[in-house]
Order: sequence, then structure tokens, then C-alpha cells
Amino acid sequence: MIVEIIVFLLTAILAYFLYLYKWVHHYFDKRGIKYLPGVPIFGNILNSTFLRNHLFDDLDRVYQAFPGERYVGYIEGTMPILIIRDPELIKSITIKDFDHFVDHKEFFSEEVEPLFGGSLIMMKGERWHDMRTTLSPAFTGSKMRKMLPFMTEISSNIVNHLKEWTQTELAGQVFIFFVAGYESSATALVMCVHELALNPDIQEKLYQEIIRFKEEHEQLTYENISTLKYLDGVLNETQRKWAAALIMDRVCNKPYVLPPPREGGKPVHLKPGDIVYNLVNSIQMDPQYHPNPTKFDPERFSDENKHNMKPFTYMPFGMGPRNCIASRPPIQLS
Ligand code: HEM
Ligand SMILES: *[C@@H]1O[C@H](CO)[C@@H](O)[C@H](O)[C@H]1NC(C)=O
Ligand SMILES: *[C@@H]1O[C@H](CO)[C@@H](O)[C@H](O)[C@H]1NC(C)=O
Ligand SMILES: *[C@@H]1O[C@H](CO)[C@@H](O)[C@H](O)[C@H]1NC(C)=O
Repeated sequence: MIVEIIVFLLTAILAYFLYLYKWVHHYFDKRGIKYLPGVPIFGNILNSTFLRNHLFDDLDRVYQAFPGERYVGYIEGTMPILIIRDPELIKSITIKDFDHFVDHKEFFSEEVEPLFGGSLIMMKGERWHDMRTTLSPAFTGSKMRKMLPFMTEISSNIVNHLKEWTQTELAGQVFIFFVAGYESSATALVMCVHELALNPDIQEKLYQEIIRFKEEHEQLTYENISTLKYLDGVLNETQRKWAAALIMDRVCNKPYVLPPPREGGKPVHLKPGDIVYNLVNSIQMDPQYHPNPTKFDPERFSDENKHNMKPFTYMPFGMGPRNCIASRPPIQLS
């Protein structure tokens, strides 16, 4: 009897996943969206689920498979998601029509994980807007110089302006500044040092720029960092090749009509809850926008060259009103 029940349950589960497998492919077919067929249960993320490659590789495989498309279908497990390939469309989603795509995808609900779930990154709609407005003044230039006063300022901002907010909400914001701020800045610095070690000529040129500044001006302060052009290029290039962002996700919160995925195709109607991924890293490593993308070349950001960079093909801090709150120039290094 036990055996029969187990066999029945396994069959039911298998049938359910096969149904979802068919359903997700049908979802894209019906809308005329191209996709790479996935495998049951895992969709397009089988390899990264079992750590056979990085998540970037699974995303990038889908991105690269259809060079002519404005957007393509991506199957995350059993969930259909749109990968946006066209920089113009990324501009519409993150700026022009931002009010249709205010939120990030939920991966911890606030009930389960109040600290992360209640942080600015995960907050939604009106509540996100209020918190963002409250926190933003603390991220302007000089206030970022020292970490501690800025933490204190943020706390008192919240406490003063919106007394009704709870301790947990306050803790959530401080927590996310450590996670979002510390980890991403540390990654950027590590990858920068890594590239400098691999490229001694670039390292030497950077060294010379800093030495020259010190010879001319005695000392180098926090305010001076942005005047060092080559350093700026090195940091920008690090963020191009090794952006921590990976996916700039947005959730549709108001019905939206996407232009056809290609000339002659039909528009796609998004409804609330549908998810889009703007692929920061794939675009920043696309030779169409950044020739010879694996080459670490700070000159891409020089005054002569930076105008060749197409808008919305370099976005390590995200874009639009929902971008990184700390995206002002040398802030990330504080
Ligand atoms: C190299 C350093 C950093 C990188 C590459 C980075 C990158 C990002 C990216 C890609 C986003 C999402 C943007 C979007 O969806 O459009 C983001 C959001 C955010 N980042 Fe950063 N970040 C960095 C440093 C920091 C620091 C130092 C802090 C705070 C002290 C911080 C706090 C935040 C917060 C609070 C959000 C959520 C903003 C919102 O949802 O309104 N980040 N960051
Ligand atoms: C998964 O990784 C293997 C190598 O480990 C590779 O041969 C295969 O093409 C990958 N498959 C997909 C769908 O990414
Ligand atoms: C460097 O920063 C200091 C302030 O810390 C400022 O007085 C000085 O003018 C700056 N030098 C240059 C060359 O920007
Ligand atoms: C390089 O990074 C700085 C921030 O450090 C930013 O202000 C500048 O716009 C970036 N350059 C380009 C071409 O994106």
C-alpha cells in the first residue's frame, strides 16, 4: 500500500512538472517570443543550480542566442521571465515608463525575512518611495565621507521624519547598507586589484598619475579622487567587466505594452507581476557595444572615447529612480 501511494505521488509530481514545462514553452510561443527550451524543473538554469557554471553563463547563453531580438524568453526554473536586450527598451522600462516597473522581484517576503524583506531594496510602491526620499539626502557627496556619521544621520532621518516606523524597519535599512554597500564595494576593489596585477602597464600608468598628483599638490584627499582621470577610468572599467549587478530586475506593477520583439512581430502585453531582467553584465560584455569586451581597457572611458559609448550600455549602478542610492561618483569607495 505504501509503495502504491509513493508511486502515485511521484507520478503526480512528475506530471505536474511536465505540465509546467509544456506551459512555460507555450507561454512564450503564444506571444511570439523566442526562447531556448529548458529542461523540466530547472528551465534554463540547470547548470548554475548545480554550480557547473556561474549564473551569468546561463543568462548570457540566452542573451547571446538571439542577436536580432529586442527581448527574449528566459526560463528560471518553471517561471517565464523576459530578458531585455535592447538598450532603448531598458531606458523605457527604467526611466520613461518607470511608474509601470517600480519594484524588484520578491525573493524574501517580509514576513519570512523582516530584515532583508523590509529593506529599501525590497520595499514596494508608495512605501519604497517614502523611504527612498527620506534616505536620499544622506547620500549626497560630503556626507558620505565617513561611514559612522552617515549611519547616524540615516537613523535620525528616519526617526525624525517618520516616527511611526518600527525598530525592525530601521534595522532593515542599516542591514541593507552593510550588505549592498560593503559586499559590492569590496568586490569592485578586489577585481580592480586583480586586473591591475594582470595588466602591469595599466598599473604603472595609474601609479604615475597618483605620484604626479602628490608631487604637485602635496597630499591627496577624498575630494581629489574624482579629479584623477585615469583612476576614474580604471574604476569604471572594473565596473564594466565585473559589475556586481548581474541582473537589474523589475516587476511590472501596471499593465504595459512592449513593442514587438522584432520588425514585423506583434507587441507583447505585460500584466502586473510579470518580471523583466535588464542584463547589465551581458550588455557590458557585448562586443557590439564594447569592442573586444574581455580586454581590460580604461581608455574606453577617456575624454576622447567615452562619447562613443551608447547610452544604456554601461549601467553598473542600475538606472532610473530605482538605481543604487549610493551611485554618486566616489561614494562607492568610502
Ligand atoms: C561598487 C559599489 C556598488 C555597486 C556596484 C552597487 C550596485 C547596485 C545596483 C546594481 C543596485 C540596483 C539598481 C537598479 O535596480 O537599478 C543597487 C541598489 C542599491 N544599493 Fe548599491 N551598489 C554599490 C554600493 C552601494 C553602497 C556603498 C550602498 C550603501 C551604503 C548601496 C546601497 C544600495 C541600496 C540601498 C540600493 C536599493 C535602492 C532602492 O531600491 O531604492 N550600494 N546597488
Ligand atoms: C551545461 O554545462 C556543460 C558543461 O559542464 C555544457 O557542455 C552544456 O552545454 C551546458 N548546458 C547548458 C544548457 O547550459
Ligand atoms: C584637493 O582637495 C582639497 C580638499 O581636501 C582641495 O582644497 C584642493 O583644492 C584639491 N586639489 C585639487 C587639485 O583638486
Ligand atoms: C565613470 O565613473 C564615474 C563615477 O566614478 C561617473 O561619474 C562617470 O560618468 C563614469 N563614466 C562614464 C563614461 O560612464
